[in-house]
Amino acid sequence: MRKPVIAGNWKLYKTKDEALALIEELAPLVAGVDNVEIVVAPVFTVLPTLPAALAGTSISLAAQDVFWEEEGAFTGEVSPRMLLDAGASHVIIGHSERRQYFGETDQTVNKKIKAALKGALVPIFCIGETLDAREAGDTFKVLERQVRGGLEGLTETQFAPVIIAYEPVWAIGTGKVATDEQAQEAHAFVRGVVARMFSKAAADKVRILYGGSVKPDNVKGLMASPDIDGALVGGASLKGASFASIVRYGE
Ligand code: PGA
Repeated sequence: MRKPVIAGNWKLYKTKDEALALIEELAPLVAGVDNVEIVVAPVFTVLPTLPAALAGTSISLAAQDVFWEEEGAFTGEVSPRMLLDAGASHVIIGHSERRQYFGETDQTVNKKIKAALKGALVPIFCIGETLDAREAGDTFKVLERQVRGGLEGLTETQFAPVIIAYEPVWAIGTGKVATDEQAQEAHAFVRGVVARMFSKAAADKVRILYGGSVKPDNVKGLMASPDIDGALVGGASLKGASFASIVRYGE
């Protein structure tokens, strides 16, 4: 029912030539895959280079961030319209690294999600608790605050395209993946919050991706969980072979 999404977050890696080489390696390895949506998210400067290389593949292009204004005196920012202009269809919003290092809050995330939706971009809306929050028993409290804060003011129709990514901060880039049970429990909780905010139908439809040290050897177990609808992959998306085998987790 929910089509899985496997998204590669390239973070601050890959120049134009490196990105093109990665796509050249990846594209044939995922050719013919039509049961999974595939997304890659390079740095802003690489975005306009990729549409030509992705033509004829089923790989979609995402940015890693967006600003909420369309244009104006906002040095250093990039608007939804500019991302569309560069060939992106998706945008990652509220990644924990942006929350941690760049002052992103539930309020700025909310503005960005609204702007992305208005600009016809699909938001990949990231949430996740820190290790401290988990150890204090606050995981659900944090997730509920992030989901409600990030989606505040949206109607159910506006919310419909949104993809959520649950990424426990303690699992990102650490090699310490959440267990299938921990991930499933968090995903089911988040789906419940969506049901309470919007409706059961909206909750049944929304794709919730897991992120945090997803690798070819743990993706299958995660994807077997009923509420896990895909993965947001950092490190293992930087090589064509490992990303392709994550995309092909079901084979
Ligand atoms: P990781 O990153 O797969 O390298 O842990 C995931 C992410 O930050 O999206």
